[in-house]
Amino acid sequence: MKNPDTIYIVNFGGQYCHLLARRVREQNVYSEIVNPNSIPSELPANVKGIILSGGPSSVYCENAPQISSKLLYKGIPILGLCYGHQLIAHQLGGKIKRSNKMEYGVAEVTIKKPVGLLKGLKKSIKVWMSHGDSVVSLPPDFEVLAHTKNCPVSAFKHKTYKLYGLQWHPEVVHTEYGDKMLSNFIFDICNCKANWKLEDFITRSVNELKAEIGNRKAILAISGGIDSSVAGALGAKALGNNLTTVFVDHGFMRKDEAEEVAKVIKKLKVNFIKVNAEERFLSAVKGVVDPEKKRKIIGEQFIRVFEEEAKKVNADYLLQGTIYPDRIESGSSQNSAVIKTHHNVGGIPLNVKFKKIVEPLKELYKDEVRRVGKKLKLPPFIINRQPFPGPGLAVRIIGDITKERLELLREADAIVRYELDRSKLNLWQYFAVLTNTYTTGVKGDSRAYGYTIAIRAVDSREAMTAKFVDIPYEILERMSTRITNELTGVNRVVYDITHKPPATIEWE
Ligand code: XMP
Repeated sequence: MKNPDTIYIVNFGGQYCHLLARRVREQNVYSEIVNPNSIPSELPANVKGIILSGGPSSVYCENAPQISSKLLYKGIPILGLCYGHQLIAHQLGGKIKRSNKMEYGVAEVTIKKPVGLLKGLKKSIKVWMSHGDSVVSLPPDFEVLAHTKNCPVSAFKHKTYKLYGLQWHPEVVHTEYGDKMLSNFIFDICNCKANWKLEDFITRSVNELKAEIGNRKAILAISGGIDSSVAGALGAKALGNNLTTVFVDHGFMRKDEAEEVAKVIKKLKVNFIKVNAEERFLSAVKGVVDPEKKRKIIGEQFIRVFEEEAKKVNADYLLQGTIYPDRIESGSSQNSAVIKTHHNVGGIPLNVKFKKIVEPLKELYKDEVRRVGKKLKLPPFIINRQPFPGPGLAVRIIGDITKERLELLREADAIVRYELDRSKLNLWQYFAVLTNTYTTGVKGDSRAYGYTIAIRAVDSREAMTAKFVDIPYEILERMSTRITNELTGVNRVVYDITHKPPATIEWE
């Protein structure tokens, strides 16, 4: 399908904005996240509805993001969630107030009118709320559909236009019937057809790459991970021999990984160059301890190596396997904060000698990329490879990066991966971190003063949120005993029991 029915998700910086995009796609309807001021005044014909996300602002704040009021009365169905709900009411003449009873977490909502968005729902349901402001009076021609004990207007609709608001978050799994609310909106109110499939994504993106790059040459930054391998497979389909893949060994790879990755890339049957750049990267990060600085330096070095390699093969396009969460966390949307600078997004310097950096996967989540990889028949080793950050072990060493510290972490990490691989636990990511905490220990009959290694193991669906995993004690014990026995200089091992949020998956 060339132009599938589409729902625009307007991003007001809410932490669940990305989840909304996913929930819509899970119903086989394409969704695209747009910034409030980049909504075109003439909407493309395939845009069938708009969802306004939540966000950290209050409608009365200076510079609070808005949308054009004309858009609200254009006739296109619009659903406002949380901040979006308050914004519709505010922009059309209703009143919003800071409540003295805020609602965070699960709330019991009473549905007064089970119509439109709330069609088919029972009278009382549990929903997920997270708000301090509330709508206290509606604009003319709106009606209340639901309320909670502390929030008199928890859901509303316009009497004639297809304008809806929900104070709660239907996209969060803790909201009962959240999917039903979204499907009511997408199918009954917007009349979308479920015509978005990942197969279409492959054809569309190959055609787009052909149209954009044509007969010119491109290089692809490949790491052997799922994202860059899928980007490589799409690039090879579109550009054939005009594509050269470049794998940079920056010296921050895990034990034996650089050789293994090179072997795997060779299997993809694409033009391939391996660049050994260990000394270059090591000297660039020498003495740098600030994680954001490390990330930016590594991002810049990557680009400089790619520029040099591109020159050798006359390529002026750079393909990257950037995926959607990389961009969100690097703060590429207007209203969201920078969490960390992913090397391939915020880490890219401003002066780049490429005609264009092309990112065919930039709208996809990791699990969607895995599904595309399967459809493209990539080897299971690549599809199931756990995610590994572009800056590699450099963001798993807290403090100074030296050859000696890298070697220590490589060995500890190899033990963690070996023990967890054979445990057959179903994990998203698991690794060791070398901290900069020295503690006192006793080895033999002597005092030891050495490093602390942290173990991190998480489960996730798309890396935007993650849970630490309940690893059986005997496995933790085995890892700890092996690390402290086998590695001189380490006398303490800790297990990281923090979810994301509030932590991130990587320590830096
Ligand atoms: P965080 O640490 O932000 O990581 O929770 C989310 C996912 O992204 C990976 N990650 C990166 N991947 N370049 C990448 O290609 C990066 O700079 C980067 N930083 C984090 C991380 O391993 C996790 O899977």
